[in-house]
Amino acid sequence: MKAVLAKALGGPETLVVENLPEPRPGPGEVLVQVRAAALNFFDTLIIQGRYQYKPDLPFSPGGECSGVVAALGKGVSGWAEGDRVIAHLGWGACRERVVAKAERLVRIPAGVSDEQAAGLTITYGTSLHGLKNRACLKAGETLAVLGAAGGAGLSAVELGRIMGARVIACASSPDKLDLARRHGADLTLDYAAEDLKAGLKRLTEGRGVDVVYDAVGGDLAEPALRAIAWEGRYLVVGFAGGIPKIPLNLLLLKGCDMQGVFWGAFVERDPAAHAANMADLLAWVAEGRLSAHVDAVYPLEQTPEALGVIARREARGKILVRP
Ligand SMILES: NC(=O)c1ccc[n+]([C@@H]2O[C@H](COP(=O)([O-])OP(=O)(O)OC[C@H]3O[C@@H](n4cnc5c(N)ncnc54)[C@H](OP(=O)(O)O)[C@@H]3O)[C@@H](O)[C@H]2O)c1
Repeated sequence: MKAVLAKALGGPETLVVENLPEPRPGPGEVLVQVRAAALNFFDTLIIQGRYQYKPDLPFSPGGECSGVVAALGKGVSGWAEGDRVIAHLGWGACRERVVAKAERLVRIPAGVSDEQAAGLTITYGTSLHGLKNRACLKAGETLAVLGAAGGAGLSAVELGRIMGARVIACASSPDKLDLARRHGADLTLDYAAEDLKAGLKRLTEGRGVDVVYDAVGGDLAEPALRAIAWEGRYLVVGFAGGIPKIPLNLLLLKGCDMQGVFWGAFVERDPAAHAANMADLLAWVAEGRLSAHVDAVYPLEQTPEALGVIARREARGKILVRP
């Protein structure tokens, strides 16, 4: 079985493709033939040992995939060979076949393609958890999304629209903003061309935004917080641009909340709420209300090139690899 392997910590160029022995599912496990594995920004960090999860070497990148059930371990019920499934693994999906715990699989409904399903769980799961379970975003509120054309950001734009918010997509170029607009953004702001705080104030007639969805951090976090409305909620989602330090007095002055969004921990701590969110997301994709937009699909062997696209800030929505 072919697998992309990190055998030493380093950049995408250090990954190798090797043949591994065929995996066998143990009790309670399922063997899945991978149709498409999805890459996320954290894959660029995990292979360098710079992410919050540090798997033992060697390991494969790829936190999630879609595929088909190929064999069942002892004691598994409710699944049959040929069933189309999503497997959320954390890492290890960039290979031809993976073994997953049966209870962690999610069935792919009709109307959702293998490609749409492959990268849905982490980005849309995080955004729905953040906007619904953490910020309690309400219809009519204003939502600013930073990094709005990235995997997580584009999902937040689409979900904000579904939840009835007025969505301001913020990104670093006109073509990224154009993509966000085509996915439901009401207004756009190019933070490479305009000051983020001034732009958000301008677009909200000085009132500020009710909810900020921040998967970028870095130099954008403080100006975004300075543009938040009274009793606003600031979702701390990710740090593609670096981990910022925030002056605490801003929270007092705005009467606002900063809320951590740790989707992986939410999945472990509240599996029922996660399952409900996944059911909503898959139904919305099947109904055509969410795009689960895929930017590009690379052959498995080109996983290093695919990760390079994400690391160079060039990805628009999801990047997949296909065995
Ligand atoms: N909290 C959670 O549970 C959770 C779950 C999933 C992901 N995340 C985090 O969310 C962040 C985004 O993940 P993603 O998979 O959506 O990433 P992505 O598709 O690569 O998007 C990240 C966006 O960040 C912006 N950016 C700014 N500086 C960048 C840099 N140096 N390199 C790359 N992008 C940069 C880019 O937008 P512009 O060019 O428009 O600025 C880019 O579109 C990551 O930090 C990830 O770890 C957190």
